[in-house]
Amino acid sequence: MSARPLLIAPSILSADFGRLADEVRAITVGGADYVHVDVMDGHFVPNLTIGPPVIRAVRAATHLPLDVHLMIEQADRWIDEYADAGADLICVHAEACPHLHRTIQAIRSRGKRAAVALNPATPAGAVDYVLDQLAMVLVMSVNPGFGGQAFIDGVLPKITALRQEADRRGLVLDIEVDGGVKVDNIDVITRAGANVIVSGSGIFATKDYGQTIAELRRRGEAARA
Ligand code: DX5
Ligand code: ZN
Repeated sequence: MSARPLLIAPSILSADFGRLADEVRAITVGGADYVHVDVMDGHFVPNLTIGPPVIRAVRAATHLPLDVHLMIEQADRWIDEYADAGADLICVHAEACPHLHRTIQAIRSRGKRAAVALNPATPAGAVDYVLDQLAMVLVMSVNPGFGGQAFIDGVLPKITALRQEADRRGLVLDIEVDGGVKVDNIDVITRAGANVIVSGSGIFATKDYGQTIAELRRRGEAARA
């Protein structure tokens, strides 16, 4: 099993948007490693969220890296905007990028870390020929579009397959899991080989974000020890 560090990335989709800067500061003080920001366009996914101006506001509220998850079509047209707005990692969907290699190069040419997300039905092989270009693969454990959905267990073998393939090739690759992750199921996820853990409602629906983040970290670490 790889020794990539376990990172907790709260998804602000479940935060109180009326107090967004305070919410971002609360997870920062609470020990989060990344801030996960969900961008949806109402086309690739059946929901519409936020764009570059809000990312700028989040950028101003924290020193943490911004993990920007683009659930949008025509991502190539937007890479510069999200890079300028303060994204550190830019994640595009394999299903939405017909020229995935080119899109990844565009992200890297802006000095940003490139990631590719795979929907639950998309095989690990979709990133086979670009794996060495990526900082991270995001394995979706819900169908993207909404927070608060139930974790799909069927993606666990995909996490393990990606981890084994990265190790086999000697790649330094983070594997992120997004959707339905909570303190009571993080163990199977880190045991499968994931090391970057997104949780939206699993953190923001609790009273003490810091305590929940610490518990996620404790259970996640214990399961892969
Ligand atoms: C879903 C988003 C997720 C979502 C996770 O399309 O990509 O990041 O906010 O929320 P939870 O953890 O509540 O499933
Ligand atoms: Zn997400």
